[in-house]
Amino acid sequence: MRIHPGELKEEPALDVIRRRQDFPILHREVHGHPLVYLDNAATSQKPWSVIEAERHYYAHLNANIHRGVHYLSQEATAAFEAARERVRAFINAAAPEEIVFTRGTTEAINLVAASYGQRLQAGDEILITEMEHHSNIVPWQLLCQRSGAVLRVAPFDAAGQLIVDQFADLLGPRTRLVALSHMSNALGSINPVKALVAMAHRVGAVVLVDGAQAVAHLPVDVADLDCDFYAFSGHKLYGPTGIGVLYGRRALLDAMPPWQGGGDMIREVRFAGSSWNDLPYKFEAGTPNIAGGIGLGAAIDYVRGVGLEAIAAHEAELLAYATARAHDFPGLTLIGSAAEKGAILSFTLAGVHPHDIGTILDAQGVAVRTGHHCAMPVMEHFAVPATVRASFALYNTRHEVDALFAGLARVQEVFA
Ligand SMILES: Cc1ncc(COP(=O)(O)O)c(C=O)c1O
Repeated sequence: MRIHPGELKEEPALDVIRRRQDFPILHREVHGHPLVYLDNAATSQKPWSVIEAERHYYAHLNANIHRGVHYLSQEATAAFEAARERVRAFINAAAPEEIVFTRGTTEAINLVAASYGQRLQAGDEILITEMEHHSNIVPWQLLCQRSGAVLRVAPFDAAGQLIVDQFADLLGPRTRLVALSHMSNALGSINPVKALVAMAHRVGAVVLVDGAQAVAHLPVDVADLDCDFYAFSGHKLYGPTGIGVLYGRRALLDAMPPWQGGGDMIREVRFAGSSWNDLPYKFEAGTPNIAGGIGLGAAIDYVRGVGLEAIAAHEAELLAYATARAHDFPGLTLIGSAAEKGAILSFTLAGVHPHDIGTILDAQGVAVRTGHHCAMPVMEHFAVPATVRASFALYNTRHEVDALFAGLARVQEVFA
């Protein structure tokens, strides 16, 4: 249904103006204009509490974890493990052993492909969707090359919605693994993950959900979704870069071989052979990103403090407003209009290359992403080389949406 800007309710679902005070970077200027940061799908900005958690670790706790008997090491270990517990509670995993810290979503997916993937044989099938980020395509292509497995791709429709019937048709007795995004970074489409997981389980496949985009926008409950693996990155969740999470069902992680060897992942090392540490350490070789883990814990505290329901409601309101403005904007074509959609507005403007749009917007302080968004097959589907993507976070305002459209009007003047 088309909504006109005037029909939308005025009251914000959360106190955005107050929340903006929590994010120092939002107060800087770019090219002499107040920063309008609309590139949140690439990475979101960090609140003081996250910045402070990392600073506090380095200023007061810095020591290597899990190995030291000394006080600092024990304090640092406790802080890192407390962060793991925050992650567990945030996604409702059954136990902290099911939370593996990684560098991010990409590494989490590669871990599953490298380790769980060793079970796959020639002729087995891996099912993904057409809307995946490259990091949920390429690791499976590499696994297919190694194992002789076959990659199948479930298509989406003109609105950017997964065609569930075709997804169902592609599931079969040879499907060993299904990997799909919870929310598309290029289109915003939100997949009906719970139903898709149930369908995949009926044919005996395990399911990995790429939650890189979803975690910052929707409440995620891995027990309710019943997925086998769930991957996400800290930096899209108002947390630090270089830290992410692989949730894995305990029985699966237990049965999987380690993927990287080194310190902390072993129980005993002898030249004749080594044995592995308990979960989750079996998958955490080497010194982890300790400060990042602690920062991610602080980010989760922050998001829970604001409330994911309130965030989702605020962003839905912003998206509806931006979508209404987009419909009224001459020459603008929206790419992705799924009924279930997160706060992403991907579009093209007739006669202007997205990179030119991005450059002109940047000159006005408006940061958007232009390009293929690491989802080239999505671009191919819509027969466009690139799109402009404005993506919203809890701190964005209608005023900033207006700034985006004022910037687009300027683009049209320049190209008139
Ligand atoms: C849907 C999706 N999956 C995976 C990734 C990869 O995340 P990272 O680069 O943090 O590993 C991204 C990042 O943009 C994404 O949007």
